[in-house]
Amino acid sequence: MTLNGKSVRLIAPHGGTLVNRMALDDAEKLERAQAAPHVRLSDVSLSDLELIATGVFSPLTGFMNSEDYHSVVHDMRLKNGLPWTIPVTLPVDSETADSLTIGRDVALVNATGDVVGLLELSEKFTYDKTVEAEKIYRTVEDAHPGVARLYAYGDVYLAGDVWLLEHPHPEFPDIYRTPEQTRAIFSERGWRRVVAFQTRNPIHRAHEYLQKAAMEIVDGLMLHPLVGATKSDDIPADVRIESYKVVLEHYYPKDRVLLTAFPAAMRYAGPREAIFHAIARKNYGCTHFIVGRDHAGVGGYYGTYDAQLIFDEFDPAEIGITPLMFEHAFYCRDCGHIVTAKTCPHGKESWLHLSGTQVREKLSAGEMLPTEFTRPEVSKVLMRGVQQLQQQ
Ligand code: ADX
Repeated sequence: MTLNGKSVRLIAPHGGTLVNRMALDDAEKLERAQAAPHVRLSDVSLSDLELIATGVFSPLTGFMNSEDYHSVVHDMRLKNGLPWTIPVTLPVDSETADSLTIGRDVALVNATGDVVGLLELSEKFTYDKTVEAEKIYRTVEDAHPGVARLYAYGDVYLAGDVWLLEHPHPEFPDIYRTPEQTRAIFSERGWRRVVAFQTRNPIHRAHEYLQKAAMEIVDGLMLHPLVGATKSDDIPADVRIESYKVVLEHYYPKDRVLLTAFPAAMRYAGPREAIFHAIARKNYGCTHFIVGRDHAGVGGYYGTYDAQLIFDEFDPAEIGITPLMFEHAFYCRDCGHIVTAKTCPHGKESWLHLSGTQVREKLSAGEMLPTEFTRPEVSKVLMRGVQQLQQQ
């Protein structure tokens, strides 16, 4: 691609080709789907279908077969050797699986029964949930939200290539963009180096610090909040999106930031999810990816920097996107700004830390959070969010 005569070379998608399995106006496939047996998708599978079809999960063209699945679970690679750390599978109960024939079509339907996709069923296989839990989440405890979701799955995985037959209906259409669209935007804007920021939380000052430190060495920031399924006590996506919008409005240069939604489900798989998140962002056209403290973590299941250390298990060239790793950042009263233990000579007594519980307590009591911790515009949005939740 060229921009004002200058060539803008975008990073290659994972595996070399951006997958496109959208067949939105394809009458032949729609007819096939309408004649096929139906399988109802969960929210997570629906989102996986969309992410496969739009190329976010390139090179995947469908739900994983047993060879890829076992290779991913045990070796963190697809069968062809490409790094891949999270299974992308379609679970169903045994009865449903028994009713389906390998080599035939399956219609994928949403919660309201509309046909949204077509699966070319190539395999059905059983799997060991404990092995998957231990390998992917590093625990077999069902107190872990990812493990609890896995234990609730049906006992059989369906595999095969998919086609998306319906336009995705994004919850946040104004910030919805596929990898093809973000790549076009980066080209247009002449962004050769783009850093992506994954988040499932409202932006606080430490987030802003990481993003802006990264922005110093790249051309643009893709602020990429995850808006798929999260655990029930995470802040709802609509409140988070509003918090991103107000903070961008007041504190970020408009021409260097792209706010766009990441319609994936959260797995809470810590280190493995960090690699998965990075690869997905490469497919969106980003060259750099921020990995801070306890990325995609939950509870005390992972070491603070495990999600950074896992990158050492791969050759950087095969991951392709460059991780930008940051230590735990917080405000230091004596430095008067956000620091990490790498940059601040003062001790704990100078550092401001607020736990999630403390944040919730303050907001519930109608108290603004300290500005060293959160921008006031964000505090106000969060307070409204907490009040709404209390009224429900
Ligand atoms: S996550 O589940 O999406 O990782 P969160 O939205 O809290 O959760 O974090 C987004 C990114 O910011 C992750 O890379 C995380 O490691 C990083 N991060 C969050 N808070 C801090 C902090 N105080 N210091 C350093 N990194 C942080």
